[in-house]
Amino acid sequence: MIRKVGVIGCGLMGGGIAQTCAQSGYETIVREVNQEFLDRGMARIHSAWEMMTNKGKLTQGQLEENRSRLHGTLNLEDFADCDIVIEAVLENMEEKLRIFPALDRIVKPGALLLSNTSSLSVTQMGAVTKRPDKVCGLHFFNPAPVMKLVEIVRTISTSDETISTVREFALSLGKTPVLAKDTAGFIVNFLLIPYLIAAIRMLENGMATKEDIDTAMKLGCGYPMGPFTLLDYVGLDTTLWAAEAIYEEYKDPLYAPPPLLRRMVTSGMYGKKSGKGFYDYTKSL
Ligand code: 3HC
Repeated sequence: MIRKVGVIGCGLMGGGIAQTCAQSGYETIVREVNQEFLDRGMARIHSAWEMMTNKGKLTQGQLEENRSRLHGTLNLEDFADCDIVIEAVLENMEEKLRIFPALDRIVKPGALLLSNTSSLSVTQMGAVTKRPDKVCGLHFFNPAPVMKLVEIVRTISTSDETISTVREFALSLGKTPVLAKDTAGFIVNFLLIPYLIAAIRMLENGMATKEDIDTAMKLGCGYPMGPFTLLDYVGLDTTLWAAEAIYEEYKDPLYAPPPLLRRMVTSGMYGKKSGKGFYDYTKSL
C-alpha cells in the first residue's frame, strides 16, 4: 500500500508533482539541494493551494490538510520510509545516475523508484540500482496538477507488479496513464518535439511572425497554446535537452535542435521561468 511519497526536486515539475501527491491524500516529502530552492518551490505550491481555496476548489479544512501532508527537506535520508520516490531533477543523466544508487541504498526494500524524465533512458537509471524490477518512468506534463496525462515508462527489467502498482497510483492522483516503452521521447515528446522544432525553424526562416504562428495553431487547430507560448511555458532548456536526447538515440534530423533554440538557452533565455524566452515575462514576475 502506498502511504508516503518522496519527490526529488521542487522545481517546476517536482513542485507540481509534490503538490499533486499531497492534495491526493499522500504524506509527501520533497527534497531540494539548498534552502533557497526549497523555499521558492514550497512557496509556489502554497500559493497554488491558496489560489484553489480562493476559487472555492478547496475548503479551508482541505487547505490545512494539504499543508500538513507536505514536508520539505534537504536530506535524502528522510526518504527511507517512502513507498514510492519520484525523481524530478534536471534532465542530466550524470545527476540521475548519482541519485538512483543513493536512493537504492536509503529507501526501504520493496519501495518503487520512479523517474519523471521526459526523454532519458530509464533503463540506465534502473541498472545502477539493485532493484531494476522496481524502477520505471512516471512522466508528468506541465502544469502537473492540471494536466490529466501521465506516461508510465516500462524498461525491459520493470516487473508487471511494479507497472500495476504505478498504474493504480496514477489513477489515485486523478491522472489517466498510458504505457510507453523506454525509448527516447516516449509517446508525447516523440511527437511534440518535432512540432516545436518546426515552429522555431519557420521563425528562423522568416516564414511568419511568432505571434502569427501561435495564433494560427491556437485558432486553426484548437490547441490551448501556440508553439512559442508552449515553448516558453515548458522551458527552452527542457525542450533542448529533450530534443538532444531523442536526436542522440535516432540521429533523425527531425529532432536536431535548431541553432536559435541553442543560442537562446546559452543566453539564459529559458522562457517563462527566467522571465524571457520567445516572449517577455519580466513584468509579470
Ligand atoms: N495547481 C492547481 N490548479 C492550477 C494550477 C496549479 N499549479 N495551475 C493552473 N491551475 C488551474 C487554474 O486554476 C484553472 O482552473 P479553473 O479553470 O478551474 O479556473 C485551470 O488550471 C486553467 O488555468 P488558467 O485559467 O490559469 O489558464 P488556461 O485556461 O489558459 O489553461 C493551461 C492553462 C492548462 C496551461 C492550458 O493553457 C494548457 O493546457 N496549455 C498546454 C499545456 C501543455 O501542453 N502542457 C504539456 C507540455 S509538454 C510537457 O510538459 C512534457 C515535457 O516533458 C516537455
